[in-house]
Amino acid sequence: MAAGRPARLGVGIVSAGRVGAVLGAAWAAAGHHVTGASGVSRESVRRAEVLLPDVPLLPPDEVASAADLVLLAVPDDVLPGLVTGLAAADCFRPGQIVVHTSGASGVAPLAPATERGVLPLALHPAMTFTGRTEDVARLAGCCVGVTAALGDEVGWSVGEALAVELGAEPVRIPEDVRPLYHAALAHGANHLVTLVRDCVELLERAGVTPAERLVAPLLSAALDNALRHGDRALTGPVARGDVDTVRTHLRVLAETDPDLARTYRALAERTVHRAEAAGLLPDHTAKDVRSILEDE
Ligand SMILES: NC(=O)c1ccc[n+]([C@@H]2O[C@H](COP(=O)([O-])OP(=O)(O)OC[C@H]3O[C@@H](n4cnc5c(N)ncnc54)[C@H](OP(=O)(O)O)[C@@H]3O)[C@@H](O)[C@H]2O)c1
Repeated sequence: MAAGRPARLGVGIVSAGRVGAVLGAAWAAAGHHVTGASGVSRESVRRAEVLLPDVPLLPPDEVASAADLVLLAVPDDVLPGLVTGLAAADCFRPGQIVVHTSGASGVAPLAPATERGVLPLALHPAMTFTGRTEDVARLAGCCVGVTAALGDEVGWSVGEALAVELGAEPVRIPEDVRPLYHAALAHGANHLVTLVRDCVELLERAGVTPAERLVAPLLSAALDNALRHGDRALTGPVARGDVDTVRTHLRVLAETDPDLARTYRALAERTVHRAEAAGLLPDHTAKDVRSILEDE
């Protein structure tokens, strides 16, 4: 296999979960051959039928043994035990590529396979997957966090080429950066959903409908502006230093949902910090807003 452009590979998918089935379908579309997939639950069997038609469903050890490229797309907590078990069952051999898709770790969990001579890779698509066919198209245009073993330049190139074959853009993530990389993505993507849902539910509790329709253009523009213009995209009472408005927000939120009021306060404190650091909020105004947030 030439570095940088993997040849046609026999791909084994362990297992046909939301990510595994989608990556398997994307690599098949890129010309690789999916030789087998595992999956026991009704959901995984159904996903395999839709995204990996004609691919035999086999136990994980048979899938791994037969493949040139073994994709381990299983829950994070399951991964280390699975790799250890497959290594103990002699499923890995020199020359195989073994990939996992967990965001939080690099190649360390693949150590038992690496000791058997495989090329270990962590390929984390920075995308949210539901396991539906539209996810395959979504890979085009997303980034994949690639981690190979330190100093293994061939490994890094193979990882990048496999990401490109998914239609994605590879981004190198050093092994020791993976936990912080993943924390950042979870903070952005997961907490964004929490924030949007809290916003919509507050509107609905206030009797304002259709809430999603009302906020969609506003939230889309805020996200777009934040990505394009950074902290200069900040607007609203905290960034303007409208102390009375912030005080009113804290009062009505405390009356409606005290738990949410605490979240609002924490995010407002963080917003003061960002607005001040970006030069949007003069020192004395930042102090006034902070004192309201501390007092109320
Ligand atoms: N979903 C996302 O948006 C996303 C995005 C990027 C990365 N990831 C990462 O991708 C990995 C997989 O996530 P996912 O969302 O695809 O999970 P998932 O939909 O829950 O699928 C997990 C798959 O693993 C199988 N499985 C569970 N325990 C197993 C075991 N002991 N041995 C063999 N197979 C086992 C399940 O099979 P059964 O259904 O038959 O039990 C299922 O097919 C995780 O590391 C996750 O962090 C997820």
